[in-house]
Amino acid sequence: MELITLKEVDSTNNYAKKNLEIFSDKTVVRALRQTSGKGRLNRSWVDLGEGNLFFSIVLKPSDKFCDIYANLTQYMSVVLCELLEEYGLAPQIKWPNDVLIDGKKIAGILSETVMLGANFKGLILGVGINLNAEIKDVKRVPDKLVTALSIELSTKIDAVEFLNKLLDKFFSNYDEFLDNGFEFIKSDYIKRACFLDKEVCVQLINETKHGIAKSVNDSGELVLEDDGKEFSLTIGDIL
Ligand code: BTN
Repeated sequence: MELITLKEVDSTNNYAKKNLEIFSDKTVVRALRQTSGKGRLNRSWVDLGEGNLFFSIVLKPSDKFCDIYANLTQYMSVVLCELLEEYGLAPQIKWPNDVLIDGKKIAGILSETVMLGANFKGLILGVGINLNAEIKDVKRVPDKLVTALSIELSTKIDAVEFLNKLLDKFFSNYDEFLDNGFEFIKSDYIKRACFLDKEVCVQLINETKHGIAKSVNDSGELVLEDDGKEFSLTIGDIL
């Protein structure tokens, strides 16, 4: 694994994508500041200042796209929860991959698949984690309840140490995850899920869906029930 640290960049995902050809598998690009961080569903990711984590992992697991690569964001959310638990917290996951503490978002994950024609070139797994921020900073984030590890623990967090621990954990079971897919993490994911058996509203790209969140299936999809009918969603965001 190689770690590249940039002083400032528009988006580590964009930077990783632009340099995908020259970066080898498992290269990690971190930026101390991010000026145009991207979130899921065309949202933005607010830079809460130096001391927070903005990084993207370049992954080139094979020459062909495989469906389970789409579950890597969920794998990362579980790994991140495990690490936050070591800090004494009780994180939860909001489908598909938001990590929350007491209902407040502490981290977001955005994966982008790069194809050239029909050829799979790689996957960029972008992660933003609020490590060091004050309450007045997190209030700047529009539309969301947000927190930071420093707020939860009332202490400053060493970002390099946190990142190294997270990457160690991520790569220690990465191969096993690739061999087994979502089923490998399903029980660890479900036990931290905060949305099951609740009435939810899910934002899709151009529409919203409502229903009771019944389960997460073996592919990591959200199973909803509405009017006695069950259906599953592959992408979206619980509002
Ligand atoms: C979300 O919750 O909407 C996903 C947010 C992902 C943010 C990270 S920060 C590092 C990487 N670079 C980006 O532009 N976005 C991701």
